[in-house]
Amino acid sequence: MSVMHIVLYLFLIVECYCSFFDPAYIYSGIVWNDTDGKSIQSHAAGILIDPNDNSYWWYGESLKTSTLADHGVNCYHSKDLINWINIGEVLGQKQVVIQNQSGPYVIERPKVVWNPLTKLYVMWFHLDSYDYQYRYAGIATSPTPNGKFTFIDAFQPDGVPSLDMNLYEDKRNGVVQGVYFVRSCNNEYVGISKLTDDYLNTTGITSRIGEPREGHAIFYRNNRYYMMTSHLTGWSPNPAELFVTNQDNLQHAEWSSLGNPTNSPTTFNSQSTFVLPYPSRKFPGTFVYIYMGDRWNAPELLNATYIWLPFTFNSDTNVTLEWQDKWDLNDY
Ligand code: GAL
Repeated sequence: MSVMHIVLYLFLIVECYCSFFDPAYIYSGIVWNDTDGKSIQSHAAGILIDPNDNSYWWYGESLKTSTLADHGVNCYHSKDLINWINIGEVLGQKQVVIQNQSGPYVIERPKVVWNPLTKLYVMWFHLDSYDYQYRYAGIATSPTPNGKFTFIDAFQPDGVPSLDMNLYEDKRNGVVQGVYFVRSCNNEYVGISKLTDDYLNTTGITSRIGEPREGHAIFYRNNRYYMMTSHLTGWSPNPAELFVTNQDNLQHAEWSSLGNPTNSPTTFNSQSTFVLPYPSRKFPGTFVYIYMGDRWNAPELLNATYIWLPFTFNSDTNVTLEWQDKWDLNDY
């Protein structure tokens, strides 16, 4: 081997090492740009992990203008959680049709799961009149994650008025045990229902938290379910509350409060929307649980930003969320 070859090999090894450890910073509370350099508009996010290649699809509310007629669901795509490609609007006002009622509609908190039986991507979202009187969940489906989604239905699941909501795909070792709908029931309590096999309906409320909470984000760790929530103060921030189950069963879960893991009375000026389990780079085989929240910057909402921070588990019931201006995915 010539000296030239050795130098070349050394160069390649150093290159590989450096690119593997390229910092993957997540910044909170500042404007995030997509790969075109335009600000990301995808609020009250839900993340779908692509069933085929494990890439990430980020669905969220479009720019929060004061004109309801503009509001729809935007989508971004990423392989690394850092670089986001703008896919565009995947559901708009035009797609939504409710019999005997006319829009424009409130379209909030979209969440998407993939149904292995129908092979459809199924979106659930909070669908309402401008003054929040309908209290519906809306459903739309698409054969592909990038839409456009076709509107299917608007209704009150289990006959109960529904406001803030989320979906939780209960997946263990790669096998989906069921998908659950969690929502604010008439802003009086939190109700959880398992979805039917086609994910187009619910099968009755089997678990509840007896007080009103919203911004629900469920995740599973170490044989327990957790639910991050906010209190109800509209677009203004309030202290988060984390709940935990003491048993490995979501359908009939009983929840107890672990208080506010942030210690911040405003949850760092944010409201929860999702918790993403992300495969740890530092401790392979474990996960980093990423809190995803919205800094609405009320009252205008036009400058809303995102707060993504990793949870710390001091024990199963001592869970904290610390503020960090930026953190590196490689360190977790
Ligand atoms: C918040 C809720 C948002 C939106 C807003 C409307 O409490 O979390 O999703 O519905 O109220 O005022």
